[in-house]
Amino acid sequence: MSADERKYDEKLPPRRRDAVPEPFILVIFGASGDLTRRKLIPAVYSLFRQGFGPEKFSVVGFARRPQTDAGFAEAMRRGIETFARAKTADEPKDLWARFAARLFYHRGEFHEPKDYQSLRERLEGMAKKDGVPGNYIFYLATQPDFFGPIAERLREAGLTRSNAQGSPWSRLIIEKPFGHDLASARELNRFLQSAFAEGQVFRIDHYLGKEAVQNILVFRFANSIFEPIWNQKYVDHVQITMSEEIGVEGRGPYYDKMGALRDMVQNHMMNLLSFVAMESPMDVSSRAVRDEKVKVLQSLRAIPRVCAVNGVVRAQYAAGTCRGKPVPGYRQEPGVAPGSLTETFVAFKANVDNWRWAGVPFYLRTGKRLPRRLTQISVHFKPVPQILFNADPEKQLPPNTLTLRIQPDEGIFLRFQQKVPGMAMDIQPFEMQFGYGAAFGKPPPEAYERLLLDAAFGDSTLFIRNDEVEAAWEYLDPIIEGCSGARGGQLPTYPAGTWGPKEADDLIRADGREWAAADAGPSQPSAGEPEGADY
Ligand SMILES: NC(=O)c1ccc[n+]([C@@H]2O[C@H](COP(=O)([O-])OP(=O)(O)OC[C@H]3O[C@@H](n4cnc5c(N)ncnc54)[C@H](OP(=O)(O)O)[C@@H]3O)[C@@H](O)[C@H]2O)c1
Repeated sequence: MSADERKYDEKLPPRRRDAVPEPFILVIFGASGDLTRRKLIPAVYSLFRQGFGPEKFSVVGFARRPQTDAGFAEAMRRGIETFARAKTADEPKDLWARFAARLFYHRGEFHEPKDYQSLRERLEGMAKKDGVPGNYIFYLATQPDFFGPIAERLREAGLTRSNAQGSPWSRLIIEKPFGHDLASARELNRFLQSAFAEGQVFRIDHYLGKEAVQNILVFRFANSIFEPIWNQKYVDHVQITMSEEIGVEGRGPYYDKMGALRDMVQNHMMNLLSFVAMESPMDVSSRAVRDEKVKVLQSLRAIPRVCAVNGVVRAQYAAGTCRGKPVPGYRQEPGVAPGSLTETFVAFKANVDNWRWAGVPFYLRTGKRLPRRLTQISVHFKPVPQILFNADPEKQLPPNTLTLRIQPDEGIFLRFQQKVPGMAMDIQPFEMQFGYGAAFGKPPPEAYERLLLDAAFGDSTLFIRNDEVEAAWEYLDPIIEGCSGARGGQLPTYPAGTWGPKEADDLIRADGREWAAADAGPSQPSAGEPEGADY
């Protein structure tokens, strides 16, 4: 890591709860797209109305279609009305007017150098008019093929300022996927680093913006009672489940090239696994936290290609029923090849080969068109000895389980045995519940709000570093290669609306275990829980 990169990776001073970042201009490439109106602008608006936006900040949308500033602002207002938690109609009129006055549109073509020259002139003019340093955040809300070319054009236009930490600064935010295998991820990293220093690049995995994910570190390292038992001596195994109720939702052509391993496991699941398995970082700096995450990924036992064929369950959803309505199978979805062998479900066993986790399997499963939207990590502790209350071999006590629920109904649930009141020694498992909603009386902030604000402060702790991306691909590449062409070109199927194929149950049952039921905590999704996409 160069001295310049180290500067970016330094520990930032603790941020006051109401701190506001320096003035900046957020330039969104792909501003007429879905991500911008669904997630980004609602998040920026929410930050603005909560007072986190600096007074002199602006948003410049960059896309191909002709549009005026006012037309862009109107499209963004409609996005906020549809997707934001707070609607513009609920706000004092001048709030929206003040926000809309900071929205601009720049028509341009991603490959065209002259459009970047005119962008530069425009940005410089805006900063000068506002009397602020020209700090820029470039957000690439585009297809990944454009990441390299846009970074290159920004560099040519002199907009990257790759050696400056102090103001004015430039930062780049990109969305997953970060490559589709190790080679393409390395190439992308090389491309980006030829334009920006690594410390200027903020790779978003929006899961890390979720309050319940950040809380994993607090739960583990701000309490004294969990860390001593967080190891192979007490933990039998860990399960990570990410289930989606939705299918491919109009993203058929994209998803068919990706599949669950690339779309969910490489990023979201590897991040959850790292947070659960990592050692305590030296401090909360981005370098220390990410160093520990990388070590976990580097400790994952390689799954040889031949094992991937046999030990990794991949499957596709067939037609079935979702929320009482019939839904088509994956191969019937628009944009999906009729004979597609892309997996919409995957389950496998990972091993973290270090002293803490030796012999503790981590079972991972994720899929589309499963019965409910759920992301949770369950830590299954070893059973009590077969003596005393557990002496009957026919009636073993279920072991203690700690569930970290990421979504929906974020919370932590601990299952333990209790004596049932009465004359007999009846023992039953009960659950102690901590729910964010009940504890704090309000839902946690949106992930994009937190991440955009962190990027504006230059805090990259919750973003993915280049070596994390590469370590995750290094682990997954042989699995993906080993699986392609597996089983003579056939994939097992599961009816939409079920918990995946029988093979996934066989996988965990072969070790004498069962998948955790999805009913820890509140048994049903909260009222109004959106059937949202997780990307
Ligand atoms: N949608 C989500 O909620 C979401 C969530 C997480 C991640 N993502 C990822 O974010 C990325 C963007 O997704 P999206 O759904 O917003 O895409 P999208 O709806 O297809 O929008 C693409 C945008 O790129 C612009 N564009 C395309 N080619 C261009 C060119 N050659 N020059 C200039 N502008 C060009 C389009 O402008 P014109 O239409 O004006 O041509 C449009 O603004 C994808 O990689 C996606 O996987 C999306």
